Amino acid sequence: MDTSAEPWGNTVDVQFDDGIAWVTLNRPEKRNAMNPTLNDEMCATLDVLEYDDRCRVLVLTGAGESFSAGMDLKEYFRHVEAAGTVAAQNRARRASTEWQWRRLSYFAKPTIAMVNGWCFGGAFSPLVACDLAIADEKAQFGLSEVNWGIPPGSVVTKAMAATVNQRDSLYYIMTGEPFDGARAAEMRLVNEAVPADRLRGRTRELALKLAGLNQVVLHTAKVGYKFAAEMTWAQSEDYLYAKLDQSRTLDVEGGREKGLSQFLDDKTYRPGLGAFDPSK
Ligand code: COA
Repeated sequence: MDTSAEPWGNTVDVQFDDGIAWVTLNRPEKRNAMNPTLNDEMCATLDVLEYDDRCRVLVLTGAGESFSAGMDLKEYFRHVEAAGTVAAQNRARRASTEWQWRRLSYFAKPTIAMVNGWCFGGAFSPLVACDLAIADEKAQFGLSEVNWGIPPGSVVTKAMAATVNQRDSLYYIMTGEPFDGARAAEMRLVNEAVPADRLRGRTRELALKLAGLNQVVLHTAKVGYKFAAEMTWAQSEDYLYAKLDQSRTLDVEGGREKGLSQFLDDKTYRPGLGAFDPSK
C-alpha cells in the first residue's frame, strides 16, 4: 500500500507487529481524551487499516497512563457548543460515534481493547465496540457523567447494557463511582484483567491467536453475533444461514472443506481440540 496515505501521526499512533496493528490514542498530556481532531483521525485510520494487509488484528490502547479519559470536555463539549450551530454539533457527534461504535463494531478484522489505565465515560463506547477486551487489573474505570451533571450520552449506556447486567450497570451509571480492572472483569465488561506487567504480553498472545485464524470466517462470525443479538429468532436463523453461505463463498482458503476432510477422511485433526492447519 502507499504508506504516504497513512492518516495517523497526530493524535493517533499505529505500529505494526506480526499481523497486529497496535492503534494508540495519543494525547497522553490530556489522558487521551477524545477531541474532534482525534475522532477524525481515528475514522481515517480505521478506513485505511481495514484494507491494509499488515493489520490482521487491531489492538486499541492509549498512550501513557490512560486508555482514554472519555470525551474531551473542553474541545468536544465547550468548543463545539460555542460554535453555536446544530451543524457543528452534528458533525462532531457523527465523527465521534462513527469510529467509536459503528466502524469499530463491524471492523473487518478482529479487535481487542487493551485497557492500560484510566477509562472514563465516552471511552466505554470503543471499549465495548472492540470484540474482546483485556485490562490492567488496576486500571480505573468510571461512568463519571453524573458527577459533572449529565447522564451518559452517545452509546455509552447502550454499551453497558450490551455487556454488564442491569444491577451493576445502574449502580455505576447512577453513582458515578470508579471501579478497577479486576471488577470490570468480574462484571464481564472486559474478558480478563491481568497484572500491568502481563498486559501487553497477554494481549499479544490473544492477538496472534486471532491473526492465525481464517479472517473471512472470523468476520462473518463476529458480525453475525452482533446483528443476531438484535434480531428475532426467525430473522436470526435466516440471516445466520446467509452469513454461513457468504463465508463459504468469500473464503478462498476453503477452510470448511479442508477442515471436514482432515477430520472425516484423513483423520488427522479434531475440531474440538483447536484450529486446523490451513497449510495441510
Ligand atoms: N476532557 C478534557 N481534558 C481532560 C480530560 C477530559 N475528559 N481528562 C483529562 N483532561 C486534561 C486535564 O484537563 C488536564 O489538562 P491541563 O494539563 O491542561 O490542565 C490534563 O488532561 C491532565 O489531567 P489531570 O486531571 O491533571 O490528570 P490526573 O492524572 O490527575 O487525573 C483523570 C486523570 C482521568 C482522573 C482526570 O483527568 C479526570 O477526572 N478526567 C475527566 C474524566 C471524565 O470524567 N471523563 C468523562 C468524559 S465523558
